[in-house]
Amino acid sequence: MTTADTFTRADIENYPFPLSRDQYRYSTNVEPAGRPVSTAAGGWGDRRVQIDRHYRHELDERARILARDPSRAQCLPHMAPAAWDAMLTLMRDLATDYPESMHLDRDLINDNTFRWRNDLLDIDDTFTFGDASTLPTGPLDYICGQIQEDVVLLDQREGQLWGDAGVVTFAADWSFGFDIGMSFLQIHGPVPRVHSEKIITRAHDFLLRLEPGQSYRRTNWTLTVDGKLDTATETYPEWGRDRRTLADGPLEDVGQRLFLRTEVQHLIRLPHSGAVMFLIRTYLLPLAAVATVDSWADRLYRVLEDLPLDMAEYKGLARTRGPALRWLSTFGGVTP
Ligand code: HEM
Repeated sequence: MTTADTFTRADIENYPFPLSRDQYRYSTNVEPAGRPVSTAAGGWGDRRVQIDRHYRHELDERARILARDPSRAQCLPHMAPAAWDAMLTLMRDLATDYPESMHLDRDLINDNTFRWRNDLLDIDDTFTFGDASTLPTGPLDYICGQIQEDVVLLDQREGQLWGDAGVVTFAADWSFGFDIGMSFLQIHGPVPRVHSEKIITRAHDFLLRLEPGQSYRRTNWTLTVDGKLDTATETYPEWGRDRRTLADGPLEDVGQRLFLRTEVQHLIRLPHSGAVMFLIRTYLLPLAAVATVDSWADRLYRVLEDLPLDMAEYKGLARTRGPALRWLSTFGGVTP
């Protein structure tokens, strides 16, 4: 569990605050990846893969979750080439963006052989691309042990995208084990409104046309109690009761216990396999920290107050929206 006390100024300055208007509705909200975004507190967005202060904690958390529930990491057999492609793409990103600690070197004689060094984790491995016997684990598991992002790989065939591989330990109220092998349209089946408004079919058409090497991003958000990264369907008995204890507990505690959860999601067409790589990076910030930025507290209040019931219920805010609004207006400096 991440507690509010472990958050610092840097977390606020780099927080990808996701709300750009006082009213939030679903849309096909995609924009090119890699463009820096300024916020009222600082900025974010110059990299597709982000390493921050929580690196070790989140990787430990991922390892703990996987040890308990291996269904969170799966790769259907036909996705092996995509998994290698994903690993190499992520290594190249890391080596470019973090040259002081991440290094990828290609062998001068055998150009399928690479040396990978991650100084943050003391990793120094040499592998042959496509040869599973040269890595300690499968390529997707290997690289997901070194990044904070969750990953889903989508195969494109028969004019559709299929979620056929991934490592997802920090799902926001869904189950990767249930969704594996489903089409993009099936995966979004439970989301209200998006079908009548054609948001998902438009997103699907957009993704089908992504060119190799192109990448886009979008954000999504919800509220999470007690800073839990793992709010997958499988662990609902653990995190579901937190919502009740928050709603029944003292209002003063809400600023420390309730977190704005933002996902920065990247959509990347992999260059060799043609698969689409979907990265989901989860950022948590307690309301007490959100409220240090006046415009964020005010914006969150307006959005929560306005959010239609079906969207609030789907986002799992039925019990937490009321306490969030009361805390923001009582302690967070917001005038209703
Ligand atoms: C442009 C691309 C995309 C758009 C516009 C989009 C849109 C959405 C929206 C609006 C929601 C509801 C979120 C909420 O209320 O908090 C959602 C949920 C979800 N999305 Fe996407 N999405 C996109 C890409 C993807 C991709 C590539 C995957 C890959 C697996 C994915 C997997 C999911 C899952 C698993 C859920 C939760 C569904 C559930 O409740 O079971 N999305 N998406």
